[in-house]
Amino acid sequence: MKITTKHLLALFLTFLIVWALVTAPAPLSESVVDSGEGWIPIQQVFQTVATENEIARTLYTKRIVGAGLKVQLKFDELWQDENVHAGPLPALFLRESARIIAQDPIPLLLYLGSHQPISESNQFSGIQLSKFESILRSRVSNFFHEEKSNQYTAMYPDFASVAACVTCHNQHPKSPKKDWKIDDIMGATTWSYPKEKVSSAEYLEIIRAVRSGLAGAYRGYLRKIDSFSEQPEIGSRWPSEGFYIPDEATFMAEFHRLAAPATAQALLGTP
Ligand code: HEC
Repeated sequence: MKITTKHLLALFLTFLIVWALVTAPAPLSESVVDSGEGWIPIQQVFQTVATENEIARTLYTKRIVGAGLKVQLKFDELWQDENVHAGPLPALFLRESARIIAQDPIPLLLYLGSHQPISESNQFSGIQLSKFESILRSRVSNFFHEEKSNQYTAMYPDFASVAACVTCHNQHPKSPKKDWKIDDIMGATTWSYPKEKVSSAEYLEIIRAVRSGLAGAYRGYLRKIDSFSEQPEIGSRWPSEGFYIPDEATFMAEFHRLAAPATAQALLGTP
């Protein structure tokens, strides 16, 4: 075969490409961080959002429900009914944020289940029930992969931490169990995601989805207040100061303040 200029040019170009590939600098760490590949174990991500969720639940339970009851604000499981002038109970606040998270493009699922639930829709079944039963014995969280649905799941036990949990559930007409005691495991907060590892960009997206679920649930409560016959003033004050309810910005600012240290530490990986 006669070697033409065209052949030589092609050879030279091939050489240039190979040389460029071989001598190219190693990718910068930031580009690794944001490559779609991902290497942050989802278990770590679950831990971060579970902590955020717990902080929001405590904030809502103590500063809104606990303090609100003292100034005659009402909280009811039928809070969504038209003629019930009440806000959501903590479990329903969580359920509302789970519903909003489920609508987000991020495929994160949140579920508060139990083996003895008041509401049938909170009944664990299948692999989740057997994993939950092992939590009842070990009393620590559990992480597993479900082949069939390809979901990675973390379950965190939900303890009867205060007397109100026990009395309300024991007295509830629909509760299948009437002898809950303090410190019992009443259920488990359950998080699922269809990937074993995520990129840091996806990690942040998951946190964003959880936070917008929490803000959305709170917004739902504020919207409901608009229909109350007696409306607390919505603004920068809290029910501990009187017949007031913080607006979304005030509530979320307090949540961010409380959640920031743990989340920053989780993201930076500092001890
Ligand atoms: C004023 C009553 C009341 C109090 C106080 C209360 N709950 Fe509940 N809880 C309910 C109701 C009603 C439901 C069902 C909500 C629904 O329809 O999803 C529920 C749901 C739950 C569930 C989901 C399983 C189920 O039973 O449907 C768990 C787990 C749970 N609560 C744990 C707790 C814990 C832990 C506490 C205390 C930190 C607590 N609850 C305080 C009324 C209460």
